[in-house]
Amino acid sequence: MTDTRVVVVGAGPAGMLLSHLLDAAGIDNVVLERQSQAHVLGRIRAGVLEWGTVETLRAAGLGDRMDAEGHVHDTINIAWRGEEVLGINTHDLVGTRMMAYGQTRIQEDLFAAASDRGAEVIFEADDVALHDLDSDGPCVTYGGGERITCDFVAGCDGFHGVSRVSIPYGIRTEYEKVYPFGWLGILSETPPLSNLLYANHERGFALCSMRNPMLSRYYVQAPITDTVDDWSDDRFWTELFARLPVSQSEHIVTGPSIEKSLAPLRSYVCEPMRWGRLLLAGDAAHIVPPTGAKGLNLAVSDVRYLARAIATHYAGDDTYLDRYSSMALRRVWGSVRFSWWMTNLLHRFPDQTEFDQRAQEQELAYLASSVHAQRAMAEQYVGLPYE
Ligand code: FAD
Ligand code: PHB
Repeated sequence: MTDTRVVVVGAGPAGMLLSHLLDAAGIDNVVLERQSQAHVLGRIRAGVLEWGTVETLRAAGLGDRMDAEGHVHDTINIAWRGEEVLGINTHDLVGTRMMAYGQTRIQEDLFAAASDRGAEVIFEADDVALHDLDSDGPCVTYGGGERITCDFVAGCDGFHGVSRVSIPYGIRTEYEKVYPFGWLGILSETPPLSNLLYANHERGFALCSMRNPMLSRYYVQAPITDTVDDWSDDRFWTELFARLPVSQSEHIVTGPSIEKSLAPLRSYVCEPMRWGRLLLAGDAAHIVPPTGAKGLNLAVSDVRYLARAIATHYAGDDTYLDRYSSMALRRVWGSVRFSWWMTNLLHRFPDQTEFDQRAQEQELAYLASSVHAQRAMAEQYVGLPYE
């Protein structure tokens, strides 16, 4: 006897999309989320969707508002050596575009779809604990003694969740790199630049991004020991402008920030992504620094593989279930490597030597001079194909 087939831990984009795809396949599931719905919706995070993510959301019936409000774009600008700006047009180079559509909006769309289909999403579920994951009958407990038995537990509970750490130490291997700086990000209700702009500058990295025609997202590299209180809006704008070519900053409209946060940068992978009846997806299994705009896209790609693996299991075929971890990890490592490469290309490291500096400049010069290098970057930025 099972209470449900799949318990999904975490109602972020990975958990809610998995629940959506499982319901579409007629597979019962319950989502357990530690926070309130308002808290989940209040987190400002990703902004750039790979085209594969766009198509996955459309195919799941989640594309209407994205197509109406999202901004399709095809150029990433890279500023370096003061005034130079290199444009990478992904459509010209590899035939694919990207979509600017905020994670907050995707999260709203997923919650609206869940409410329409009467999905069981339990918010403010405290003390979630996973049991008997290496048996055929796992169960999940939470709150003051609630208990759900199931066939599978999907660990979609982000980097600080309980799922990954339920895999015994001897079984999981962790690969990690922590970067010696963070990103201070603001949202402002001002018109964004028309293209994404990444800047390599001696004062540190900067990024100009967008949410919609009246909402801009900007980031500057900052010491991880800083707090948001160290960064008044004035200080932020002054620092951003100091790191950008005038040809770009002259188009920026400043205004009060409506959100400000400091994010650490980390690369992390847990292998394997499956242990017995526990299957990990999204940030629960891996973290990338945001430089490559990959985290949310990887969460969606894991969930694509995972939903198919679970659906085919119930149709009597375990091939995809048995291959889930290795298939997902191939794509994960592709994005982990790319995000690490972009982070190294664009940031100033506190211990950067003259040699490192010259090598970084040469890498940028090579990228600017070689259409092959640009194509390799564009191909990875818009996302490698799914298996
Ligand atoms: P999460 O969004 O972390 O969701 C996990 C959920 O599980 C949360 O709601 C959490 O409350 C819940 N949870 C945790 N512990 C428990 C528990 N014990 N019990 C129950 N529930 C629990 N990615 C991109 O693709 N493109 C970008 O442009 C981009 N920019 C970013 C910019 C910033 C500043 C940051 C911080 C991230 C960015 N990302 C980007 C990364 C992206 O936001 C994440 O990769 C994405 O949120 C992962 O989704 P997830 O569902 O796996 O995890
Ligand atoms: C964002 O819009 O928040 C964003 C864009 C590109 C990145 C990271 C974040 O690389």
